[in-house]
Amino acid sequence: MQETLTKKIFNVDELRKDFPILSREVEGKPLVYLDNAATSQKPQSVINAISDYYSNYNANIHRGVYSISIKASEAYENAKIKVRDFINAASEREIVFTRGATEAINLIAYSYGFEKVNSGDEIIISEMEHHANIVPWQVLCEKKKAVLKVIPVNDNGELLLDEYKKLLSDKTKIVAVCQISNSLGTINPVKEIVRIAKEKNKSIAVVIDGAQAIHHMDVDVRDLGADFYVFSSHKMYGPMGIGVLYGRAELLEAMPPYQTGGDMISSVSFKGTTYNDIPMKFEAGTPNVEGAVGLAAAIDYIKAIGFDDIHKQETKLLEYAAGLLEEIKGLKIIGTAKDKTGVISFVVEGFNALDIGIMLDTSGVAVRTGQHCTEPLMEKFGIPGTVRVSFAFYNTKAEVDIFVNALKKAIEILK
Ligand SMILES: Cc1ncc(COP(=O)(O)O)c(C=O)c1O
Repeated sequence: MQETLTKKIFNVDELRKDFPILSREVEGKPLVYLDNAATSQKPQSVINAISDYYSNYNANIHRGVYSISIKASEAYENAKIKVRDFINAASEREIVFTRGATEAINLIAYSYGFEKVNSGDEIIISEMEHHANIVPWQVLCEKKKAVLKVIPVNDNGELLLDEYKKLLSDKTKIVAVCQISNSLGTINPVKEIVRIAKEKNKSIAVVIDGAQAIHHMDVDVRDLGADFYVFSSHKMYGPMGIGVLYGRAELLEAMPPYQTGGDMISSVSFKGTTYNDIPMKFEAGTPNVEGAVGLAAAIDYIKAIGFDDIHKQETKLLEYAAGLLEEIKGLKIIGTAKDKTGVISFVVEGFNALDIGIMLDTSGVAVRTGQHCTEPLMEKFGIPGTVRVSFAFYNTKAEVDIFVNALKKAIEILK
């Protein structure tokens, strides 16, 4: 049975005990995990929910008439309801489970995009997008002879909304932007971005990549006015291999299937095939039931803490770490937007980011180095890559101290 979680008092030392991996050591030193933008760690309740599924009711879903299949089907469908409520979608019919944010964006590009975008049409993305929100649109534009336009960012890593307004035209069919940048931590004014697009033309579809936002802030897709919103479970304390495509029902209903076979089918004959209703129309093959169960448990976990406390802790860590890093000679923070989440990307003059990352690991500190799947953004800043630390609510000031001291040591050794 899935555990019922009641509201947790925010005590970081207590909450850390929910995450078994946080008490492990690396090379004899406590693990300091600061790569949460790549993937988050998982609480015991999520691990238990998945283990319980496999121990007690693992079965293929929807077509079984026996009790464990019925229970597994219910768990899968309940997970959709939980996601619906979590993002305030109008109906669970608007929730499609995918492998993750990447697959969700590809689904939109291949299904909605291939139907709606024609030669000479335009798609707008931004300079700070993750490759997952660049390449599917690039491929679509190549295939359809459409034009990809890019909203530039300023030197602080903020989107230039005036430039965005200038890019919108009568040919714009899709606007696709991230809510939070994975490399810079910039929080984009996506509600405003949607409003501006819709003011230009109601039929422009706006896609919000929420991969870096869904675990940091309350997301209300109806309030945002987004047509599509995508995210991955693994960045929000849930399992890998499952993610969500939210799409307005009216749009999903009109879209052709993305993949075919299995659950997306209503009936098949050699004369032709009819498709299932949404959202199953977009879920070909055996779905990821384990993932759905784990994602539902992750949502329960986030709700038990609450975004107010999550935000407070992550902001505290961001400000504390930025203050300490700014004192290091030759260190430059890339991405200093006014509205920012717990991500710090930086370069240290004369040092290679990769070397710094490897040295930090010897102190048990896990950070990410390189381009962070945002090569065009790195090009804009004229750098090959950065060291990136990204916080979750379970990180502590003491961990920031360990990281900063390890960084200073690494710089000394690498000199
Ligand atoms: C902003 C953003 N979009 C999309 C993705 C792709 O997510 P996934 O690899 O889980 O599909 C990521 C992953 O880092 C991301 O940070």
